[in-house]
Parts: sequence; structure tokens; C-alpha cells
Amino acid sequence: MPRDWWKGVVVYQVYPRSFADSDGDGVGDIRGVIERLGHLERLGVDVLWLSPVYCSPQDDNGYDISDYRGIDPLFGTLEDVDELIARAHDAGIRLVMDLVVNHTSDEHAWFVDSRSSRDSEHRDWYWWRPPRKGHVGGEAGAEPNNWGSFFSGSAWEWDEATGEYYLHLFSRKQPDLVWSNPDVRAAVYAMMRWWLARGVDGFRMDVINLIDKPDGLPDGDKKLGDLWGQAFPLVSTGPRVHDYLQEMHGQVFADLGRPYLTVGEMPGVDAEQARLFTDPARREVDMVFQFEHVDLDKGPSGKFDIVPLTMAELRANLMRWQVELDDVGWNSLYWDNHDQPRAVSRFGDDDPVWRERSAKTLGTVLHTLRGTPYVYQGEELGMTNVPFSAPEDFRDIESVNYIREQTAAGVPFSDLLPGLRFRSRDNARTPVQWTAGEHAGFTRGEPWIPVTPNHEEINAEAQVGVEGSVFEHYRALVALRHEERAVSHGTVTPLAMDHPDLWAFGREHEGTRLLVLASFTREPVEVPPELLEGWEGAEAVVATSGDAAAGVLTHGVLPGWESVVLRSSGTLAE
Ligand code: NOJ
Repeated sequence: MPRDWWKGVVVYQVYPRSFADSDGDGVGDIRGVIERLGHLERLGVDVLWLSPVYCSPQDDNGYDISDYRGIDPLFGTLEDVDELIARAHDAGIRLVMDLVVNHTSDEHAWFVDSRSSRDSEHRDWYWWRPPRKGHVGGEAGAEPNNWGSFFSGSAWEWDEATGEYYLHLFSRKQPDLVWSNPDVRAAVYAMMRWWLARGVDGFRMDVINLIDKPDGLPDGDKKLGDLWGQAFPLVSTGPRVHDYLQEMHGQVFADLGRPYLTVGEMPGVDAEQARLFTDPARREVDMVFQFEHVDLDKGPSGKFDIVPLTMAELRANLMRWQVELDDVGWNSLYWDNHDQPRAVSRFGDDDPVWRERSAKTLGTVLHTLRGTPYVYQGEELGMTNVPFSAPEDFRDIESVNYIREQTAAGVPFSDLLPGLRFRSRDNARTPVQWTAGEHAGFTRGEPWIPVTPNHEEINAEAQVGVEGSVFEHYRALVALRHEERAVSHGTVTPLAMDHPDLWAFGREHEGTRLLVLASFTREPVEVPPELLEGWEGAEAVVATSGDAAAGVLTHGVLPGWESVVLRSSGTLAE
């Protein structure tokens, strides 16, 4: 198996809390994943990325880990994970675990010891700092710097007992680790080797480009309206991140002797940095999750400030990444995940008339680009955003803290609702819609977050094996990546980049040429004739419908929100 085996695969992300509940407690679990492995097999995916199942107080749904080698009873046992690894491997699916080591839980033994006294063994594993000079600890303005947490409020928590603050870029229950401390790094690498020895096949590394904090922890800039200074520009992709990842590679993967996959989640990374992180010669990570395309609709006041986004802007961004990583480096391709709204509601058209077509077309584009595609649970069914209406509808700490902070500052909830409806992470966290029945077949108990009402129309039972469904289209796209090296390894040629509604590009590998045409509008799109020159006898290898293929090949017209992948030896017009 080649070292870069992951170029020809598709990864499926399971957010276990919302995937399938086997024991009726309303929360998804590992046995639920085992029971539903057949769904992944049927889809044909090669790798399962499992979001955290480790012991955790669940302040951030498991991204706050209190024991890296233990499984939270909410999700099952270590034996269940062993069984999942074995069953997945039997089904030809590799298992990638989440690695959350920018921070631990405040209930992790390391932090419990760290906060126990100023000279405890683990004190310098976390960022402890005295109050700002001339201030009294615990009072407003006494924080060591002005950084805001990504989950609202200050990034510093006062600890009365030892008279210092500790840093938490996320919630106060997620203290940041000090990566410049070699003991921290050694402990993390040992834990990773332990999981690999158990049979896992790699890691998705949570916010891994935030692990290097700037010397002196300087104040961040404050924009008009900011309550706190911006920590992000200061902590994103510090120079030592590369050293740490190279060291990790040497200590954990270099001698593994079997295929593995590493993907670094890297908010704020640009294409130039991504090339460095993923250049195989540098031995850092195999691919990155970059955020540019999912930040395009973010306004100046932050994540819940939504600005309109055109297809042309989205396309310009993703196609630039295609070009910039064409010779060196590798990218992950994703429309959504557990932190992002549902793809069809955000980038497609979730009106019932267009929902299926646009969900399929989003799939067509993503799965024929260069990079490794990720499918987030339910995306393959065209699951949508949720019609939230009240503060009680939200579970996610980010949304809950934001509502609390803003309403305390006098902003009415009704002003917050549009942003939350569009972008709250809870949109992606409602249960997977397996059936039209009670609780969508997710649980026989009461789900921890209600199922989306549209599960009666949108569910796996209604789609698996049903020709023309979103699921079957995704299945065809996964198969295409396996069979067609022009998809997995070909070059990319952006086409018709000034067209407002047609997303078009070519792929080419060893004489095979593919032409991908996708409509991002309800109206029929006339394909510019020069794109189709020489493609008269082409074969439609995948299409959202027979009409789409026939429309393009006989009339040069693509019906609204449809897409087609043509194969021939035709030329690709610029
Ligand atoms: C990124 C994860 O994907 C997100 O869910 C989490 O809240 C933060 N990192 C903190 O771990």
C-alpha cells in the first residue's frame, strides 16, 4: 500500500453523541456505531473518523478530556472500542480517533495536580500567570492579558486557592497545555502510541495549530464592539507548531510500519502554510482542515454575524486552494462537520423542491475535486439545519454562552436568532435521521437534543437502495473516487470562472479527462458552448439525474441545481 493511500479514499465523520443510541439513554454510543457500521459499508467509505469518546465531563461534548486512555461510560467501554476497531477493519474501514491536546479537561489528573499548589509536579504543564501588575486577582481587568475565549468571556480563570490565573482559549473547563514543556509533549506522544498499538489508524488533531502560544502572551487587538482582545491572530500557527509536528511524527509515526492517516484541524491556516504542513518531505501531517471557505460568510462582528455569500466567491476560494496545492501538499475537502451548519442549508437550497438536487450537486463538486473528501454524518442524506426558535432549544456551550453574554448586554434574543439559526453548531448535532418513526430511529429513549422535524421525509430508510436518492448519489461519488484515478490523482483545471451560476472544472490523468459541470441556481443554465467542444460522445459517469446528463449532452443546458461528470478524451477549454 502506498504511503499516500489516503489520496484515493473518502472519510466519514461520526459524532457519536448523535449517531445511534443502542441503550436507550438518549445519547448515541459506541455500540450504536457498531450496529450501524453497515450504513458506512454500504456507502463505501474507507475511513471512519470518530469524534471524542474519551472520559469527559462533557462541557464541550467530549472535546474536554479528563482521561485520554479511558472511555466515557456515556459512550461505552474500552472493550467496545476494541470491538469497533476490529469490526471496522473486517469491513475494510480504518478508524481515526480525535486527538484533543491543545487543552485537557480541568478534571484531568494533570490539571487537578497542577492547580493543587504552585509547586505541584504538573504546575508548569498549564499556563498559570499572576494578575496584571497593580491589579487584585479576580477583579475586573486583572486578567494577565485581554484575550477573549472562543466561547465568550475572558480566556483566563482566576484560581483563588493558588492566587493565579490559568489560560483557556475554549471553555474554563478546557485549560490549555504548555507545549513548550517537553514533559507535556512526551506524555501526549506516549498516549498516541498507546492508541496506535490498540489498532487505531491515525488521528484528527483538534486545533493543532493553536498549540504554540506567543512568548510573553501579549494583549490582542480590540476592534470596535469587541468585549475582549483578539487572541486568535496571536495563537494561530506559531513558528514552533512545525517543530512540534515534526517531533510528533518522529516519535509516533515514523516507525509504525503500517498505513495511517493524520489530519490537522487548523483554523486560520492559509494555503502557503498548508503546503508546509502537508509537504510529505517535511513529515508533519498528511492533510489539513483549513477554514477559509467556511469563514467567507462570517461578518466583522464574528461567527454569528452572517454576510451573504455568492457561489462565485465560494468557488474562487476553493479553486484557489486547488491551484495552490496542486504540486506540493494535500487538502481535506469538507462542506460541514460537527462545528458547522448543514451544507445543504448553507451552500445549497433547502427549499423542499430543490433540497435533494442541491444536496447531490454539492456532493458532486466536493467529491470530484482534488483532496480527501469528508462526509459528515447525515450529509449523505441531505440533512438540513434546524428551525430553532427559543433559547432553550440550544445545547452547545458556544451558543449557550453567546446567548447569555449578549442578552446580559441588553441584546434581545430575537436579534440573535437569525445568526444562531444559520450557524449554531447544534444544527449539525441533532440525531442522524435513520427512519420516519419516533425520534427518527435514533433512540428508544428521549434524545439529548430533539430530532429535526423533517425526519419524516429525510431519513436513511427512505434513501438507501433507492435510485435517485441523495444517499445513492453519494455512494456513486465514493465509488468514482475509488475507480477513477483522474478523480483521486488527476490535475485540476478551473473553467468558466466568471460564470455566476455554473461551477465547472476539468480533471485529467494519463489521457483520461473528466469535465464536471454543476448548477448553483434554480434556473436552467446554458453551458458555454466552448466548454462542450469535443465532448459530444462523452459518457456521463455520474449525474444528479438522467435529465441532467441528457440536457448537457443534447442541448448544452444543465437543469437547475443539477450536475454531471463527463468522461472522454476531449480537450478542456480554458
Ligand atoms: C474544535 C472542535 O472541532 C470543536 O468541536 C471544539 O469545541 C474545539 N476544537 C475545542 O476542542
